[in-house]
Amino acid sequence: MIIHTPRLVLREFVSEDWTAVHRYATLDDVCRYQQWGPNTETETKEFVQEAIEAARQIPRRRYALAIVGLDSGLLMGTIELDVRGQHFRIAEIGYILHPEHWGRGFAQEAAQGILRFGFENLDVHRIFATCDPRNHASASVLRRIGMTQEGWARDERRVRDGWRDTLTFGMLDQEWYGESRIGLQPDRAVDHPRLLIRERTDEDLESIREVDLLTWAPNNSPAPAPPEPLEKYRMYRQHWRGLVAVLDGQVCGYAGVNTPSLPSQQHVLMLDIAVHPRFQRRGIATALLRAVEAEARAQGKTKVALRVLSSNPGAVSLYRRLGYMEEGRLRKEFFLNGVYVDDLFMCKIL
Ligand SMILES: CC(C)(COP(=O)(O)OP(=O)(O)OC[C@H]1O[C@@H](n2cnc3c(N)ncnc32)[C@H](O)[C@@H]1OP(=O)(O)O)[C@@H](O)C(=O)NCCC(=O)NCCS
Repeated sequence: MIIHTPRLVLREFVSEDWTAVHRYATLDDVCRYQQWGPNTETETKEFVQEAIEAARQIPRRRYALAIVGLDSGLLMGTIELDVRGQHFRIAEIGYILHPEHWGRGFAQEAAQGILRFGFENLDVHRIFATCDPRNHASASVLRRIGMTQEGWARDERRVRDGWRDTLTFGMLDQEWYGESRIGLQPDRAVDHPRLLIRERTDEDLESIREVDLLTWAPNNSPAPAPPEPLEKYRMYRQHWRGLVAVLDGQVCGYAGVNTPSLPSQQHVLMLDIAVHPRFQRRGIATALLRAVEAEARAQGKTKVALRVLSSNPGAVSLYRRLGYMEEGRLRKEFFLNGVYVDDLFMCKIL
C-alpha cells in the first residue's frame, strides 16, 4: 500500500531500507524521548524486517511505513499506525524523522496522511498518540493535525533517563469528518469557516451551469462543452443528483453522484466534480469529496468510483491525495486538442 501527500510518499519498507533507517536510528536526538533506539545494526535490520512481515499479516494490524520525499526519493523517517483493538476500531500512531528534515512540516504532513488512511480507508473510530511532555515539537505536531490532548499520565514508563510522564492525544472519526465536511482540516487553506455542503436543489441550476461553463475544457472532459442556453442546460442536467458547496451563500462547486443501474452494482457510487475557478485550491473539492464519501457510507455503499483524463494532473493529484487508487487505464482513449490522452479509472473502497 502507498499513501500520497503533497510532498511525500508513505510506502512499505523493503529490506534494503535498513541503512537509511539506521542513519537516524543511531542518533540520540531522535531517540531521546522514546524507548525505541539508539539501535545496533541488528536491531535496525530487525525493525525493518518486522515491518515487512507485519505487512503480510491478515488481517493486518501494523502499518509501519517509510516516509519518502516525493521529489528527492530520500527516506526521511518512519510513520506508523497500529490497530490496537480491531473490534473497537482503535488505532495508535507514531512517527520518527531524521533531524535533517525537521522544521519543514514533514511530520505533520505524514501524520495527516496516516490519519486520513486510518479514518477513511480502515474505518477506525478513534486514533490516539502519546508523547513525552518535554517533546514540545511532537506535541505541537499532534495539536496542529487537530488531535485533542486528553491526558497527562505521571511516571507512565521508564526510559533511559528514568521515569517519564506521558501525554495522550486523540481524535475521533466524527471529528475528522466533521472538520473536513466544512473544509476546516488544519492543512487546508479554506479561509471561510462558513462553507456549507448540501444536496443540490433546482434553484442551484444556474450557478451549477456557471461552474460548468467556466471549468469545462478539453483537458478535463472528453465530451463537448455543456449547452449554454439555460433551457437546454436544464434538460442536460435533468436527472442529475449531487451535492453543492456553498460559501457565504454562493455555490462555488459541486459533486455529482450517480449509482449505476445494474442491481449488482448498487454498492457503487460514481462521482464527478468541479469547483468555480475563483474558489480553486482552497480545499473545496476536498470537502466535497469527503462529504460524498460520508454520504456514500451512510447509504451503505462500499465503493466510490470516477474517471479522470491523464491530461488533468491537478485532479489526479487531488484524488490520489484523498486515497483514491488507479484501478484501470484505457491508453490513448481520446484524441483531444491534437494529443492522445488516457482515460483513468480511479476508486476508493470504503
Ligand atoms: C480538480 C478540481 C475539482 C480541484 O478543486 P479544488 O477545490 O481546487 O481542489 P482542492 O483545493 O480541494 O485541492 C486539494 C489538493 O488537490 C491537488 N490539486 C487540486 N487542484 C490542483 C491543480 N490544479 N494542480 C495541482 N494539484 C492540484 C493539490 O494537491 C491540492 O492541495 P494543495 O492546494 O494544498 O496543493 C478543480 O480544479 C476543477 O474544478 N477543475 C475543473 C474540473 C475538473 O477537472 N474536474 C475533475 C474531472 S475528473
